[in-house]
Formats: sequence, C-alpha cells, structure tokens
Amino acid sequence: MPKLTIDNQEIEFKPGQTIIEAARQAAIDIPHFCWHPALSVSGNCRICLVEVEKMPKLVIACSTPAAEGMVVHTKSEKTVHAQNAVMEFLLINHPLDCPICDEAGECKLQDYAYKYSVGTSRYDEQKNHKDKRVSLGPNVMFDGERCISCSRCIRYCAEVVGEPQLTFVQRGEHVTIETFPGKELDNPYSMNVIEICPVGALTSKEFRFKARVWDMSFTGTVCPGCARGCNTRMGVRNNEVLRIEPRENLDVNQYWLCDYGRLETIKNLTDKELRFSSPMLRTDSSNELISVDWDEAVSHALSELKKVNASEILFVASPFSTLEDNYALKRFAKEVFDSENICYIPNINENFGDEMLKKSDMTPNSNGLKILGINAFTGETVEKISNGSYKVVVCMNDDVSRLPGANEWLGKISSIIDITSMKNNTSNHSKVIFPLSTYAEVNGTFVNFQNKVQRIRPAVTTLEQERLPGEFSMSRLDKFGSHNDRWTHGARFNARPGWKIIRQLAKVFGTHFEFETSEEVFMELSNKVDGMNGYDYDTVGNEGVVIGTKPLVTA
Ligand code: SF4
Ligand code: SF4
Ligand code: FES
Repeated sequence: MPKLTIDNQEIEFKPGQTIIEAARQAAIDIPHFCWHPALSVSGNCRICLVEVEKMPKLVIACSTPAAEGMVVHTKSEKTVHAQNAVMEFLLINHPLDCPICDEAGECKLQDYAYKYSVGTSRYDEQKNHKDKRVSLGPNVMFDGERCISCSRCIRYCAEVVGEPQLTFVQRGEHVTIETFPGKELDNPYSMNVIEICPVGALTSKEFRFKARVWDMSFTGTVCPGCARGCNTRMGVRNNEVLRIEPRENLDVNQYWLCDYGRLETIKNLTDKELRFSSPMLRTDSSNELISVDWDEAVSHALSELKKVNASEILFVASPFSTLEDNYALKRFAKEVFDSENICYIPNINENFGDEMLKKSDMTPNSNGLKILGINAFTGETVEKISNGSYKVVVCMNDDVSRLPGANEWLGKISSIIDITSMKNNTSNHSKVIFPLSTYAEVNGTFVNFQNKVQRIRPAVTTLEQERLPGEFSMSRLDKFGSHNDRWTHGARFNARPGWKIIRQLAKVFGTHFEFETSEEVFMELSNKVDGMNGYDYDTVGNEGVVIGTKPLVTA
C-alpha cells in the first residue's frame, strides 16, 4: 500500500483516496464543512486547506488525491493562518444566532470557531440580511442568514435521494438556497438535510425550539418503522422522546433515516391519553375498564385462561416486539399449555417500500419471529377465531382487528388478554390489560431483513426503572436535576417489558422462567437458534451481527 506523511505520522492509503480520506482513516481530523463521505466533492468552503511540501500553494484536502511520499501539514503556520482566514470570512455575514439556534451545541461552525478561529473580526460593516424563516417543505425550515453555501443539501437531494429539489439562486453575497420552481423539499428522506447541514440553516419543523442539545440525553437504538432497522440516536429530555436522528451504520442505513421513521415511530410514546399506565380489568357489570394492581390482573388472567381448554386459546405474537418478548410468549404457550397455537399478523405495505431504505414489511422483527419458529396467521386461524373455536386470545403488542373479517367476530371472543402499551381496537374488547413498555423503554433485540440482530436500548424510564448511571445515557439535567426541579418530573408509566409480564403469568401456573433480565432471555434463546449460539448483548454490540457469521468485534 502506498504511504504519505501527515503531521509527521506515516500512514498508508488506498489508491484513489484524497488527503482528507487518508487522514480520516488514521484518525487525523482535518476540518471540513462541504465535504461529506457520502457525497461528491464540491470543494467550496476551503476550511480544509493544508500545506503540502513541494506544492507552491495550500491545497484543499477534500479534493487533492493522496500520493506516494506526499508530506502534509495540517497544523503548520500557513495552514493555521488559512483556517483563521476562512473562519473570519464565513463569520462575516453569519448572524449571532447561537443563543436561539437549534444547532447550537452540535454546530460545526460553532465548534470550528473555537478551534480554528482567532475569535476577532475586522469586519465592522452591517451584516447581510436574508430571509430567516423559509418553509422548504413539510418538515424542513430554512434560515438564509445562517447558510454558509456549502451545497451539501443540494448534492444530497440530487445524489443520494435522486430527486434534485434544491438549488443555489443569486450570486455573491446574495446567494441563497431555494427549491426548484413549483417544487417542495418533500422527498421521503428530506429530513436528513438537517444533520448534513453543518450549521443551523436547515432545521426540523417538528423539533424547532423544543430543547437545547446539552439538556438532552442520547441513546443508540434502532427504528422500529420497518424491516430495515435503521440505526438511530434517541434524544430525550425530561423523560420525553423529542427526536430521533440517524446513527451511522454503513451496512444498514449508512448515514440516513426516512422521514416516516423519524416522525411516526416516536409519536405518542408519552401520550397519557393513549397509553395504559396501570393494569386494567373490564367489569362484568358495567363493561368498563378499571385500574387494578399487577397481582389482581394476573389472577384474573389466570381464571380467564383456566375457563377454557388449551386448544381454545390463541396466542398472538408480535413483529413489533423484541425477540425476548416473543420468545417468552412462545415458551409460555408451549410449557404451560403445551400449545402450538401461536402466530403473528404481518404488516406489509407495498406502497411504503422503495429502493433506498424503506422496506414494504413495516415491522422491525418479522425475521426474528421466523427464527423463533413463529409463523404468520393462516386461513385456518381466521376460520377458527371467527367460528368460535378460539375462545380466548392472548395478544401481545398488536391489534387483532388487523386480521381479516375482524369486525364480525371481534366483539364475540369470550376473552382477550391484552399485553399492550396503547389503546387500540383490541383493547376496546379486552378483559384484562397489561401495560407494556414501549420500544423506547426496554432492552431487547430485533432481527432485520438482512438477518442482522440489532439492539434496542431504553432511553426513557418507567415507574420501575431508575435512570441509573451505566444503564442509561444521562444528560446534565438527569445528573444534576433535584427533586424540586421541574426537569425531573417527566411522565413515567407503570409498564413492564413483555417477557417480564409473561414470566409473572407463567409463575401463577406453576412454571418458573429462570431469566431475570432481558439479556438472560436473549442468551437463553440464542442457545436455541442455529448460528446464534453464544451470542450475548456484547456480541451484538452497537452495529449488530448477522446470524451465523462470526461475532463482530465491537468497541
Ligand atoms: S443550507 Fe446548510 S447544507 Fe445547505 S448549503 Fe446552506 S449550509 Fe450547506
Ligand atoms: S427506512 Fe424503515 S427502519 Fe429506516 S427510518 Fe425508515 S421506517 Fe425506520
Ligand atoms: S471541505 Fe474541502 S473545501 Fe470544503
């Protein structure tokens, strides 16, 4: 492999790599605004200027190919002078918006102003003013004054999504970004421009002004919106999920998320109207749901299940739930009732899938159900439920009214035992309801369409979980907020992970499930799945592992 020297460090590079790419591989950071590893090179911001020996002028590291024997200086006097000059130039017209800008705290311009700028400006003329609140599309707002004209957003739409929707208009100090006439920035992946914009010029309409980033905690998890399982970071403040953003995983989602995943999968997670926050029973007399404690709900479930023969119970597993929860349900059906009457309801939407990320299977774990040996419902399942052969349904994290013809038979099922987070059509008919933790509250695993096992992690707490160091990511407010501080009073729900609820149900039938934590459930099921023997949460790591491959070594 050819070699070059950067800051006295000899490094190898692959032929064709630019200086910035070679440096990045060796963990040497060269500042950059317009360069992005997934986009073409535009070379317009000039912050990446470096000194190369035997070259008469400084060169931009993002477009200059690395060459054998090249000697590069990223911290020499000339380079530092150029960096200072570029920063001074970029800040000439940049407004002093940091105190009210959503990007503050994660802004490249702000960070580089500390790192690469002398902190003074010779410019004392009036700053240039541009439009500050331009709606570019349904989800993105543009602030013309903050834009540094790096063109990342333009290149992203054209090159990554394949829908050129943005362009520069005007020239010189009047240059700004606009959508093409008659167009909106409304592609299904439009919100990725928010992160690739190196400044706060493109912001999320949904998140604008909701929180300062340093007040939030961020947890690495996975989007449950479809079978892709895009890697995400969940931003939480005051125990409320405020946003998700992409987490880099080149094998799964690269640097991106779809707008649906961003917006829809975190809706209602802390909606007190929609969520159950206590076990519930439906009274025979008034047919109303009343709140009870866990033990009472468990004993009612026991009596409902004992009223019928095992063959009259249908267990509905969930492609929206983790491997751990589904495994526990399957074990419950098998060991307590010796039953194989377990199935799940697929959720396929051909209009949703596309060539980029979105999959038509709009569930995160249907592959997980397959590896556990749980199959989709069949015509026979529907027949038996509609003719009354199934008298009791134990439904976990789904809505049985998604089954064909449900309108006719849903109200006639003698008893539904529902393990669910949110109110839905099924819970309107359920006898016993166990409040289920949402995907944002649990440890667990999903298996995506590539057969990759990926971890989800708790980002918000329930009544039973404390936000303890080591288990949760914690923000400044989480660490230092006191009990009389309003930041510490976020909603916490009385909910439990599915495997825990099922373990409690099994216990009243005299069956003891040994696992105490979600990882123990995972390790137990791993031993039963071909190719997963020996996997634990460390093996799965931050980027997931494809079943049957050698476990990845994770940092
Ligand atoms: S809006 Fe942001 S990404 Fe687009 S050109 Fe301006 S600074 Fe670059
Ligand atoms: S493509 Fe699927 S997994 Fe990825 S963000 Fe969208 S809905 Fe979520
Ligand atoms: S990063 Fe090289 S010119 Fe912008």
